[in-house]
Amino acid sequence: MTTSEPLTPVEVDSLRADFPILHRKVNGHPLAYLDSAATAQKPAAVIDAESAFYRESNAAVHRGAHTLAAEATELYEDARGTIARFLAVDDDEIVFTSHATEGLNLVAYALGNASAGRGGEAARAYTLGPGDEIVSTELEHHANLIPWQELAARTGATLRHIPVRDDGSLDLEAAAGMIGPRTRLLALTHVSNVTGAITPLDRLVPLARAVGALVVLDACQSAPHLPLRPRELDVDLAVFSGHKLYGPTGIGVLYGRREVLNALPPFLFGGSAITSVTLERAEYLPAPQRFEPGTPRLAQAIGLAEAVRYVEGIGLERIAATEHALGARLLAGLAGIPGLRVLGAADPTARAALASVDVAGVHAHDAGQFLDDRGIAVRVGHHCAQPLHRRLGVTASLRVSAGLYTTADEVDRALDALSGVRAYFGVAS
Ligand code: ALA
Repeated sequence: MTTSEPLTPVEVDSLRADFPILHRKVNGHPLAYLDSAATAQKPAAVIDAESAFYRESNAAVHRGAHTLAAEATELYEDARGTIARFLAVDDDEIVFTSHATEGLNLVAYALGNASAGRGGEAARAYTLGPGDEIVSTELEHHANLIPWQELAARTGATLRHIPVRDDGSLDLEAAAGMIGPRTRLLALTHVSNVTGAITPLDRLVPLARAVGALVVLDACQSAPHLPLRPRELDVDLAVFSGHKLYGPTGIGVLYGRREVLNALPPFLFGGSAITSVTLERAEYLPAPQRFEPGTPRLAQAIGLAEAVRYVEGIGLERIAATEHALGARLLAGLAGIPGLRVLGAADPTARAALASVDVAGVHAHDAGQFLDDRGIAVRVGHHCAQPLHRRLGVTASLRVSAGLYTTADEVDRALDALSGVRAYFGVAS
């Protein structure tokens, strides 16, 4: 068996037994959880790892001479090591944050602080000002949009967006014209949380590299579904959230190239991040500690490491292959339902296993309620991507998204329910 062979239905059934919540009923039906792009469910191993930390090892890390403090520190730093190996990077290039949103804010604020003259000589390479440009895309969800708006407002830099074509793909020709000598930063998503499209990083990152711009990758929708290798992708910084990767809420990861992290000034200020403090000033530790002031998210980091071990036990390649087949089944099924429009190109080869649809004549919230009545959980609304919805001519959509535990039967249940939505609301021809 190759490592990229999809999981068999028997294997998926066996994995499902690891997720306690998947056994519950919703509105009298077995739960079909098709909202993993919003947050993934947790295996018992993750729930137990968090609980075991509180039951057996809870103590403040990096200080205190007692046994529990040493144990907690070891567990926390081991968690960092597990994440580093998962991304094939070094431990000191991993910063724990509260979520991906905080990771992106951290980068934006640190760059803003550098631009305001903080961070000394090393930070000067990363300053922005009037005439400089930040380039992002029209695909982004709000967490990878608003921090750059604020950074532009703080520094006087200009924020530009690579446009999206009618089929939801990025206009690469426009990108080539937009990324140039003024570009200081390229911030883009790896996988769109609305269309599921996988960004052609091999076409975009070299453009930024050629002009010496920093590249920030939002990997929220890729880390749980594809092998993620920031160094191979040649990005400087990358973020993802733990809760979408079968881990706890309240934890995110920022990967940063060592040289970049150590040059940037902190974003949050306080204890545990410093070497020495006087009443007037502070000296900061190198990364990652300089970005982790206060008592960090210990149980969450330990739970996330357990989640990473869990997905590694299955293999990201196998998860990707399994979800790819589910995504193709979903797209083929949606294409056969009259009155549904799938947002983005319906090519399963360049997509993650998610699809957002507009149901003609039925508001996404009503359609979502119709599915929920049948035990099917999907996300409705703008998925924190208002500009992209606007660009694609809708205000809201209904999103179906898969995880490693999703079955073909669940996808079929969603397709079956969606095929009945318009008739139920009296808009079918
Ligand atoms: N977490 C948001 C989603 O569901 C952005 O895609």
